[in-house]
This record gives sequence, C-alpha cells and structure tokens, in this order.
Amino acid sequence: MQLDTNKLRDYYANPPEDVSLEDVDLGRLPRHVSIIMDGNGRWAQARGLDRSRGHVAGVDALREAVTTSVRLGLDALSVYAFSTENWRRPRREVDLLMHLFATTLVKELPLFHQENVRLRFLGDLTALPDATYRVFRQGLDETADHTGMTFALAVNYGSRAEIARAAREIALDVASGALAPEDVDEDAVASRLYTAGLPDPDLLIRTSGEMRLSNYLLWQLAYTEFYVTETYWPDFSRWDFLRAVAAYQGRSRRFGGVAAS
Ligand code: IPE
Ligand code: IPE
Ligand code: MG
Repeated sequence: MQLDTNKLRDYYANPPEDVSLEDVDLGRLPRHVSIIMDGNGRWAQARGLDRSRGHVAGVDALREAVTTSVRLGLDALSVYAFSTENWRRPRREVDLLMHLFATTLVKELPLFHQENVRLRFLGDLTALPDATYRVFRQGLDETADHTGMTFALAVNYGSRAEIARAAREIALDVASGALAPEDVDEDAVASRLYTAGLPDPDLLIRTSGEMRLSNYLLWQLAYTEFYVTETYWPDFSRWDFLRAVAAYQGRSRRFGGVAAS
C-alpha cells in the first residue's frame, strides 16, 4: 500500500523516550498485522469500573489502531473482537458488545470512507442479532469499492469452526464432482477460510499478557511472528504499535529454512 511519509512523520511527532519512528525500517514493514484485543475487563476492573466501560474504552484504541495501520501503509489489519466462545459470557455483556459493534461501525464509516478502507468480516455472521447483522452488511456494501487497506473484524469467529466449515465445503465439492480428491491441497483449504484472499499475518499482537491463541487463526498464523504486551487493550497506543513493529523487524524469519547470511 502507498506510504505517505510526511503524514506518517506528523502522526508520529512528539515520541516518548523509548521509541520513535526512527526505530523502524519503513522499507520492511509488515503487510498484514493481526491483533487479539484482550484485557478490556481487567482495564476497567483496575479502575473500579464495570467491565462494559473497558469495552467502550477499547473502541478508542481500535480506532487508533486502524489509523496507525493506514498511516503505516499496511495492506491489512485484522482484529479479534468476539470469539465463538465469548457467547459464554453473561447475557448483559454479550448484548452490550453486540450493540457496541453496531453503533461503532455506524459512527466510524466516515473514517473508512475518508481513508479508503475496505471492511470485511471473519466469522459466522448469521448468528448475530439482526440489528448488528444489518449494520455489518451496510458496512460491507458501502466499502466494497474501496481500494486502500483491508480491515478485517473477527466477530463470532472460531478457528476450529472455520476449518471444519472449509472441510465441509470441500467434502460437498468432492461429492458433487466439482473437485477431485487429489486436488485437495493447501490452497483448496485456504481459499475456503474466512480469510480467503488475504495474505497470512506477518505479525500477531496480543495485549494483556496472555500467551495463548484462544482459537484465533490457527491455520493462518503458521509462520507469523508473535508479540505479547502486558498493556491492556484500551491503553494500546500508536507507540505500542510501533514497539511491536520494531520487535517484529528484529526477528529472523526463516520459514523452516536457514537464515540468509
Ligand atoms: C477483550 O477483553 C474483549 C473481548 C473478548 C470482547 P476481555 O473482555 O476479554 O477482557 P479481560 O480479558 O476479561 O480483561
Ligand atoms: C480472546 O480473548 C477473544 C477476543 C479477544 C475477542 P478472550 O478473553 O475471550 O480469551 P481467553 O478466554 O482469555 O482465552
Ligand atoms: Mg480476555
């Protein structure tokens, strides 16, 4: 994606002591960054607030992450917003999150237009409340022609369900004769995942210190670099994003081979 370095320098003016734009190589930025946005509840609890306040604060952090990704010229940003397991939470919290997704999307559509961002969703949207589903469809339709960054929101997403669904589709295609068994290869699977057409993430960020995937992108993260920060999601800023990118650039990605010397 096009990198506007003047805009980027403005965006990263007034750095804190430990990190600045100079710490990253703009010629070697990741193409696709994915984030497990975790720690909203603990952020709120640490302030004596209801968990819901953490989710509301998390929206601001997400808006900043989208803007940061656009400024960095990423091809794609994907974020985990609601897992297939998150339905186990209290009804009140689930309702609030579904409502928050819908109202936030309506509010942020102008930003997507302004920044030419194309929206897509990862997950089974059919199980969502009608009002949320309708807004999601509207977001998809209104941004379908945008040619800038892809922003993928994982909602009612579970990686095992995603892979099982791809297997089911392959079985149906084989049964109908549309696909030969010997043509069932990695591409056949990848093209039936919710992420079809997106490059695999180069960098996965998880906030709030948890060292697990929680059923997120098990297939797609095969060779992704992981970065875990103790920072709770609502506090995650453009500077934390830069720290993650700097750490990513310090890694030696070998993809099973040996390091180039
Ligand atoms: C992440 O924050 C947001 C969602 C899963 C929707 P949490 O709500 O998981 O916050 P913690 O992990 O309980 O602190
Ligand atoms: C993962 O966070 C899901 C999202 C961030 C949407 P959770 O808070 O649900 O994960 P666990 O339960 O700690 O593994
Ligand atoms: Mg959590």
